[in-house]
Amino acid sequence: MNRWFASTYSKNGSNVAKMEIDSDDFKYTSNECFVTVLGSEEKGSQLPNLMSSLAFEEVVSQVSEVGVSSEDSTPDNDVSSEVGIAFALEVYVVAEDDLLAEELRPRYSSFKELFSGVEGGRISQNDRKNENLNHDKSFTYGEIQFVSFAELLKVCDVKPGEIFYDLGCGTGKGVMAAYYIAPFKTCCGVELLNGLYESANETRRSLLLNKELWRDENEDPSAVVSMFHANMLEHDWWSTADVIYTSSICFSDELFNALSARFDMMKPGARVCTLKTIPSDKFKTISRGWYKMSWGRCTVYILERLDN
Ligand SMILES: C[S@@+](CC[C@H](N)C(=O)[O-])C[C@H]1O[C@@H](n2cnc3c(N)ncnc32)[C@H](O)[C@@H]1O
Repeated sequence: MNRWFASTYSKNGSNVAKMEIDSDDFKYTSNECFVTVLGSEEKGSQLPNLMSSLAFEEVVSQVSEVGVSSEDSTPDNDVSSEVGIAFALEVYVVAEDDLLAEELRPRYSSFKELFSGVEGGRISQNDRKNENLNHDKSFTYGEIQFVSFAELLKVCDVKPGEIFYDLGCGTGKGVMAAYYIAPFKTCCGVELLNGLYESANETRRSLLLNKELWRDENEDPSAVVSMFHANMLEHDWWSTADVIYTSSICFSDELFNALSARFDMMKPGARVCTLKTIPSDKFKTISRGWYKMSWGRCTVYILERLDN
């Protein structure tokens, strides 16, 4: 059953519009849902002419900002008579692969094959238990998602021959995604926890052994993909890296401040993608976007190292 409700509720003294979709079709999907809002200005309506296809959250926030004039409206399929608004909703599911550029789809299949059966969360839990690190939030585990990572790397405008690092690479999903998505010369991961590093290295080995999964059959990935078992504060990535990704959202202040001091040592033009922004005047923010991760969407800042 597909029904939608439009109503208003009061927030900080003013009425905001709210839409809810009751749909058995979409209840269980983990795919992106898009809604199309087709609207027209009607007599007495404050709804702007909306005719675009937007991510669901964006539509909700746009409609929330409309601020309709009705004092109190109960959920109803037809609010138009009361507040003078008329719009139609169209909801459809977009398969994740459809969001990818055509040429990346076979590579995404290779990525999924490489990581099938790899359970990063479980490996991280074992590592933290074995190394008595459960109290240290810097080791909280979560992973990138390939499709969002492709969007992120597009913003980084990667040039052929550049060098990529994932600092705190876990099972290596960011490293392998970078290998498949962009023309990096080398893609490296640095991970401190033993089981996670072993898993990343095992996945690298699987790639080397299976030519069908290479991004280019004429390019041996052994010289392209590397995993390092090291502390990100000690392994020297700052003198060569062009693009850094670090899932820093849970890093302690101590770790992140020390990491930020190393970001300052990077070369001009290098880009850093980080889930916490860098408090440094040596960087300018080139983008701030909302990207899907294994735990949901979160903000990723993309900063560029300025000339000295
Ligand atoms: C949120 S996970 C991100 C995993 C991976 N980058 C991804 O996004 O798919 C953060 C990772 O940083 C690692 N980590 C935390 N502190 C570290 C340190 N000082 N050196 C290296 N790795 C570290 C953790 O073990 C964990 O695997």
